[in-house]
Amino acid sequence: MSAPEVTRSRTTVGIVGGGPAGLMLSHLLDRSGIESVVLDLRTRDQIENTHRAGILEAGSVDLLVDSGVGDRVHRDGHRHEGIELRFDGHGHRVDFEALVGESVWLYPQTDVFIDLADARERDGGTVHFGITDPTVEGVTTAAPTVSFTDAEGQRHEVTCDYVVGADGSRSMCRHLVPDDVAVHHFREYPFAWFGIMAEAPMSAPELIYAHSAHGFALISQRTETLQRMYFQCDPYEDPSAWSDERIWERLALCTEGDGFTLHQGPITEKVVLRFRSFVAEPMRHGNLFLAGDAAHTVPPTGAKGLNLALMDVKVLHEVLERAIRSGETSALDEYSPRALERVWKAQHFSYWMSTMLHTMSGEYSAFDTRRQVGELTTLVGSEAGRRYLAEGYTGWPAPRGGA
Ligand code: DHB
Repeated sequence: MSAPEVTRSRTTVGIVGGGPAGLMLSHLLDRSGIESVVLDLRTRDQIENTHRAGILEAGSVDLLVDSGVGDRVHRDGHRHEGIELRFDGHGHRVDFEALVGESVWLYPQTDVFIDLADARERDGGTVHFGITDPTVEGVTTAAPTVSFTDAEGQRHEVTCDYVVGADGSRSMCRHLVPDDVAVHHFREYPFAWFGIMAEAPMSAPELIYAHSAHGFALISQRTETLQRMYFQCDPYEDPSAWSDERIWERLALCTEGDGFTLHQGPITEKVVLRFRSFVAEPMRHGNLFLAGDAAHTVPPTGAKGLNLALMDVKVLHEVLERAIRSGETSALDEYSPRALERVWKAQHFSYWMSTMLHTMSGEYSAFDTRRQVGELTTLVGSEAGRRYLAEGYTGWPAPRGGA
């Protein structure tokens, strides 16, 4: 049988990865009159049905609203003006609005994806989901190519000016940066999250981050009737070893005190989420740019992952627009340092929230647990401490470009 014919085409920006980062970049470029082609190994259905975090920083919501995809976040999202930190059996509210004049929005990543995928479809964007055999070549030349087989079996070769790797934590594009150029920073943690989705009423109007001798727990929400919660577990925990009853018992132990009641209901999903901190530097090599999880992973405490990915593409869109529309190619040099400044702030924030709130087992655990309560008591008892948390949680302003 002869090989199927290859369809050859040209675009300005080839985007590998059609999650929120890739689609947001394609959407922003389109609004600047710049063509792109997006491809993803996963089907749209697979992406839509993988539950991820649910908190958007103020700046992420601004990006959705300012670029014309913010209708649903304002209609169906929930604005949260603070969080509760819970330890030693007492809750302490951190009032973001009062401290820094900002809020966050509870709006799941899957919905951000749906809004962007719908917008790309409505605006006639070229997005190929469910592709196979992607290859990227020539990223240090003036005409890199992205090749793949589409869901119908047709092979494509797209010649681009720039390639963006927004292809997630198992990124293929990341490996196109040679070993003698790339620096990979990596940290693992001795704990993980057991995540559940439960058909139950809300237990609290805002998120509760709880530190307890039984471990960390996070009470989050999705809708009036569907709740998202997490509790600390071993990284190698088997989700099927946990009955609904055992899960509710653990969550109640981690959050007890002050008359708090956890509203229970049937559990519809059980997953274990491993913790990793990872950064690949630099985020640019020749005409290849890495964005989102392809370049960095944060532990989930504080929900920075999606927000960082959106801020990467905000900066990337700006420098690409300057390079492509104004011929200012030196703008491209700004991408990696500007994106990395925020990446490392978020790395620290996520590391800090994680290590402050999770309990350790072993020799020093009693010391550490008491010390953590000391840290949390200091934090909530000081306006400067609460403001530090509020600034990081709601998101720092984007690093400024130019000289
Ligand atoms: C959620 C996840 C997080 O990691 C977090 O810090 C807050 C909320 C969530 O899934 O709702």
